[in-house]
Formats: sequence, structure tokens, C-alpha cells
Amino acid sequence: MSKEINQITYNYKVVRQFAIMTVVWGIIGMAVGVLIAAQLVWPVLNFDTPWLSFGRIRPLHTNAVIFAFGGSALFATSLYVVQRTCQARLISDSLASFIFWGWQLVIVGAVVTLPMGLTSAKEYAELEWPIDVLITVVWVAYAVLFFGTIMKRKAKHIYVANWFFGAFIITVAILHIGNSLAIPVTMWKSYSIYAGTVDAMIQWWYGHNAVGFFLTAGFLGIMYYFVPKQTNRPIYSYRLSIVHFWALISLYVWAGSHHLHYSALPDWAQSAGMVMSLILLAPSWGGMINGMMTLSGAWHKLRTDPILRFLVVSLSFYGMSTFEGPMMAIKTVNALSHNTDWTVGHVHSGALGWVAMVSIGAIYHLIPKLFDLKEMYSISMINLHFWLATAGTVLYIAAMWVNGIMQGLMWRAVNEDGTLTYSFVESLEASHMGYLVRMIGGVIFLAGMLVMAVNVWLTVKQQDAKALDTVTETA
Ligand code: HEM
Ligand code: HEM
Repeated sequence: MSKEINQITYNYKVVRQFAIMTVVWGIIGMAVGVLIAAQLVWPVLNFDTPWLSFGRIRPLHTNAVIFAFGGSALFATSLYVVQRTCQARLISDSLASFIFWGWQLVIVGAVVTLPMGLTSAKEYAELEWPIDVLITVVWVAYAVLFFGTIMKRKAKHIYVANWFFGAFIITVAILHIGNSLAIPVTMWKSYSIYAGTVDAMIQWWYGHNAVGFFLTAGFLGIMYYFVPKQTNRPIYSYRLSIVHFWALISLYVWAGSHHLHYSALPDWAQSAGMVMSLILLAPSWGGMINGMMTLSGAWHKLRTDPILRFLVVSLSFYGMSTFEGPMMAIKTVNALSHNTDWTVGHVHSGALGWVAMVSIGAIYHLIPKLFDLKEMYSISMINLHFWLATAGTVLYIAAMWVNGIMQGLMWRAVNEDGTLTYSFVESLEASHMGYLVRMIGGVIFLAGMLVMAVNVWLTVKQQDAKALDTVTETA
């Protein structure tokens, strides 16, 4: 009898769906990344076709990797973690199903409209208004599902991972609605209600916090659950995690103006963004240290556990990119880095090194649990994936650092008579080798994702998913 009381059935179906789609969209989004990287090496790959041109395919890449790949990883993990740590089933299976299919529809909408050139021209918010409306509806449903489950939790305490997921859900809703406000003129064309410098500031308030909340807070939620789980130890400091949470969310929202240095934005606002970015280093590293120190006394596990390696290396890249970001926010440094490949390198040390690696680690942890199996089909394939992902990331970012600093220096070089030493095309020619190396790095990273897909397939094949629709767990 008491055993029955302790039994809880979780909704793992939606978690399984999103976990599988993380791998699928990861491969598609990164394949498009490799295509645009190749176009920068061999422009002939634009095929003289508007639909395949760099300008249209680039936003397809960013939307696919951030919202389809990253988004699916966040949905899968948050909906798993909220059930496990609250010891409660999601409040509604049909709402969960609506969120899954609604989000897939958003992504298909992006895949169709972006190559057609339908865009609001706001970076990371390119989708036109009908898709924006759909995003809002799905997101509100997600908030209801997540917070509803928290409200009916059986555990008294709300675990810190849920705080990060919760902040991510609320802030992304505010950012999306705030930045996307527009007046539709036709079915597929709208104009932003903002103009000029205000438009730029709203856009980068959105853009930077998309980084801070979509690409950081949500993934920190993943870190706070999966690092302790995979290490089999409690988080290093619960107190530090609370300080980390409040400091991070209260600082991030003020830093967006570092994207608008030397622009028409008032100088004080640029400087405020710079200062806030520098302070942001402290909570970012606090979080990284909290994750890393969870391994103290268990470092030996890294020798045998490639999943833990993914998680720990992701934390190292998180530390690296959150050191680099504040440095790039210093106005004099930004004068060199802005508009160069240095920014693209910074982006991908966060995107590949942190976001992709922590997601991959979490998905490897999840798949066997979701399919009621002991472990992944092949541990050596996970190990191979780890090395491919690490090598791919390092090649990518090293190439972009070299290119970026070279470009910055070439653009500012002047002759004694005040004329420019190099033309823009000369700097482009000099960047060619870096573009080739970056593309090779991308191919290697993508190869790792394909190894993952095979491993996941071989794992899932061992189990009959239908029988698993209501997995019963002992609380
Ligand atoms: C195989 C892996 C990948 C490759 C080869 C790749 C390649 C590229 C390329 C060539 C660009 C355009 C750079 C330019 O305009 O000069 C780009 C931009 C971008 N990518 Fe990736 N990418 C990959 C994975 C990812 C992932 C996993 C994410 C996010 C989770 C990501 C996020 C972005 C973002 C945010 C930008 C825009 C950067 C900016 O505007 O500064 N990428 N990527
Ligand atoms: C303390 C943390 C961070 C700070 C202060 C920071 C700061 C910066 C700065 C100064 C830029 C260059 C802006 C420009 O010159 O246009 C930038 C660009 C960017 N960063 Fe970070 N960064 C941080 C962490 C991260 C992380 C962890 C990621 C990814 C997961 C990331 C993703 C991006 C993206 C996508 C851009 C390019 C935006 C664009 O121009 O399209 N950042 N960041």
C-alpha cells in the first residue's frame, strides 16, 4: 500500500519527443551552418539562387540552432527536471502535446519563410508576425504547464534548476513580446513600432537577453540538475547557487547596450552597458565554479565517463566565453573586435562549447532513462563524439580569433598620409584560410552529431516506446 502511495507517473512522452528532436534539429541547423561557412570559402555555393543565398540562409542557421536545437533541448530538460524535482506529473498531457507540435510548427514556419526572404530584419527575431503570434501562444502554454506543475509539487522545496528555467521562461516571454511589437501591413510584412536609435536599443535589449536568458539561464538550469546527477554528488554550494541566480538575472538585463558602442545611442548608456558587462563576469564565474566544484573528490570519474566530460568541458567554455564577453564590452577593445570574426568566434565558443556541449551531455544522460534502459548503446561512440565536438569547437574559435584580430588591425591601419593601408577586399582575401579552417571545424562538429544520431537510434531501437508512455517511478 505505502509503495503505491510512493509511485508517481511522469509524462516522459513529451520529454522523449523533444529529446529526439534536439538531435534532429541539431544536425539540420549545424548542416546549414556548415553550408554558410562553405559559402564564405567558395561563394559559388550560393548557386545564384536567392533561396540559397548567404543572406537568407544565415538567419535560417541561427534560428535553427538557437530555437529548434537549443529550444528542443530546453523543453526536454525543463519538462523532465520540473517533474523529477517537484515529484509531480505535468499538469496536462494535452498541453504538453500542444507545446511540442506548436513548437515544431514554428520551426517549420521558419524553415519555409526565411529562405523565401520573408523577414522582419531584426536579428534573432526575423520571423514575421503570424509566426510571432504562434510563438507567443506556445510560450504562454509552456509557462502555464511549467509553473502549474511547480504549484502542484509534492516536494516542499523548489530546486534551483527550476528557478533558472522559470526566469528563462518569464524573461523570454517579455523579450519576445516587447521586441516583436509591429504593425502588420500584409500577411507576411509588418513594420516595427520602434524607430531609429530606440529601435536599435530595443533590439539589443532583446538580442543580449536572448543570449542571457535563452542561451544562458536556461542552460544553467540544465547544468544545475545534470552535473550533480551525472557526478552523483550534491551541488557544491546551494547558497552560491542562490547568489548566482539573483546576481545573474538582475545584471544581464542592463548590459545590452554593449552591442551599440560608438553608435548614435547616448554615450552614458553605452558606458552603463560596459560597466554592467564587466560586473557580469562575477556571477557568471560564480556559476561556473559552482558547477566545477561539484566534481571535487570525483574528478577521477572524468577518466571513464564521457558524458561527464561533455558537461565539464561545457562549463570550461562557459567560463571562457563569459570572460571574453566582458573584455569585448570594454569600449576600446570593442573598437577592435566589433564587426570582425572575433565576435563570431566569441558567439561559437558560447554556442558550440557551452550551449551545444551541455545539451549533448544532458541528452546522453536522458535517453536511456526515458527509454527505461541502463545506458546508451555505445559508450565509446559517446567518447568519439566528445573528441570530435571538442576538436571542432577549438578549430572554429581559433580560426575566428586569428581572422578577427587580423581584420580589426587591417581595418584601422593607416599610412602616414592618413589614407587606409588596406582595402576591405584585401582583409577578405587574408581571411580566406581562416574561413576554410572554420568550415573544417564545423564539419568535424557535425560529424560528431551524426555519431550521436546513430548511437541514439541504436539505443532507442532496443525499446518499445509505446509501452513506455507512462513510465512509473518510485518517488
Ligand atoms: C557545425 C556547427 C556550426 C557551424 C559550422 C556554424 C557556422 C556559422 C557561420 C558560418 C555563421 C555566420 C558567420 C558570419 O556571418 O560571418 C554563423 C553564425 C551564427 N551561429 Fe553558427 N555555426 C555552427 C553551430 C552553431 C550553434 C550550435 C549555435 C547556437 C547554439 C550557433 C549560433 C550562431 C549565431 C548566434 C550566429 C550569428 C553570429 C553573429 O551574428 O555574430 N551556431 N554560424
Ligand atoms: C558575461 C557574459 C557575456 C558578455 C558580457 C558578452 C558580451 C558580448 C559582447 C561585448 C559582444 C560583442 C558586441 C558587438 O561588438 O557587436 C557579444 C556578442 C555576442 N555574444 Fe556575448 N557575452 C557574454 C556571454 C555570451 C555567451 C555565454 C554567449 C552564448 C552562449 C554569447 C553570445 C553572443 C552572441 C550571439 C553575440 C553576437 C551578437 C550579434 O552581433 O549578432 N555571449 N557578447
